[in-house]
Amino acid sequence: MSTKVLSIFGTRPEAIKMAPLIKQMEADAGIDSVVCVTGQHQQMLDQVLELFAIEPDHNLAVMTANQTLNGLASRLIASLDEVLASVQPDRVLVHGDTTTASAAALAAFHRRIPIGHVEAGLRTRDLAQPWPEEMNRRVVDVMSDLMFAPTPSSKERLAEETLQGRVVVTGNTVIDAPNLTPARIDSDPALRASLDARLPFIDGTRPMLLVTGHRRESFGTGFANICAALGDLAELGTVQIVYPVHLNPNVRGPVQASLGARRNVHLIDPLDYLGFVRLMQRASLILTDSGGVQEEAPALGKPVLVMRDVTERPEAVAAGTVRLVGTQREAIVRAVSALVDDPRERERFAHRVNPYGDGEASRRIVAALTGRPFDEFASELAG
Ligand code: UD1
Ligand code: UDP
Repeated sequence: MSTKVLSIFGTRPEAIKMAPLIKQMEADAGIDSVVCVTGQHQQMLDQVLELFAIEPDHNLAVMTANQTLNGLASRLIASLDEVLASVQPDRVLVHGDTTTASAAALAAFHRRIPIGHVEAGLRTRDLAQPWPEEMNRRVVDVMSDLMFAPTPSSKERLAEETLQGRVVVTGNTVIDAPNLTPARIDSDPALRASLDARLPFIDGTRPMLLVTGHRRESFGTGFANICAALGDLAELGTVQIVYPVHLNPNVRGPVQASLGARRNVHLIDPLDYLGFVRLMQRASLILTDSGGVQEEAPALGKPVLVMRDVTERPEAVAAGTVRLVGTQREAIVRAVSALVDDPRERERFAHRVNPYGDGEASRRIVAALTGRPFDEFASELAG
């Protein structure tokens, strides 16, 4: 008898991190894998599904332009309830900390369906940062009977809370798909050339700063500061800035207004995952508020400055390849300039490290789901 596992996800980062696990489940005779995408993201989700050749069994298409969190959450719960009723899964899997994850967990909990949480135990311990994600991941863990903690330290953070589920340390699935992403690009010069040809304006002889930024807690003043800092850096002229701008209108509006006409700044649409991984490879330095990029860039040996005051991913900070710079204009300009002006400091900062996984996370999760034995992931930073 196979276990019917319903995976529910809806945003770009969830899709990137669930894709290797879904492939592993599809290949396992012990699991009957069913995929429901909520469509919390529309275009950005489709890009990932296409790349990983995932054809969802259910697509709820809940996204509306400039959606509110409550509007989104209520549409999610209503439509997910119908899917749960028709699929009747033995277990639901959700990922991370999005509104899709918390709404799907609640919908499953109301139907007494066991919940597995992939990427459990990330915490800043501050409900305001990242907002609302810190709340989403905490409530999912409260409802889960199986928590897949990516690292030993995320397991320790779960141990601080009163939770009823079992915790296993698996590594992060984002490190699982090397053949699909960095290694595929490295081994295929024609692919590399075609990805580079999509961004012909990048000057390969000058340092390049890759920027991503979209966090809700930075809307308003935070984004004004970030844009002002990027304007200052563009004016200095020592670095070319490439910024794939998130489709959220609360991000696109201010970024376009402030930086759209700046020389040295290239604002582009979000890239598909292969294109973005290639851009990370080409970058001298990455400035971001993204969670996923904090995990991927150290594995590529790239230095990362994080535009946040706290992070739920302390491992790469401890390893010395990620630094927190906050969202103050002067602090961002100072930190970026110091690294752009001093290639040796950049080299010191940019060693390759992989504290988040060893490529086996999906295999461990499937073993846990099917009751097979496995060794937990031991981070290279442990001890
Ligand atoms: C969401 C997640 C955040 C995650 C991020 C990844 C929540 C509360 N937030 O934030 O944790 O880090 O996704 O990107 O779940 N839009 C499009 N097309 C798309 C995607 C977005 O047009 O493919 C626009 C729409 O107008 C949409 C808006 O962006 O209403 C905001 O999307 P939403 O998912 O609500 O918030 P994010 O900021 O993306
Ligand atoms: N990413 C992408 N295209 C882009 C920008 C980012 O494919 O133009 C990928 C990135 O490699 C990472 C994920 O999207 O895996 C991060 O998504 P995001 O920053 O939206 O969310 P977060 O990680 O903060 O939840």
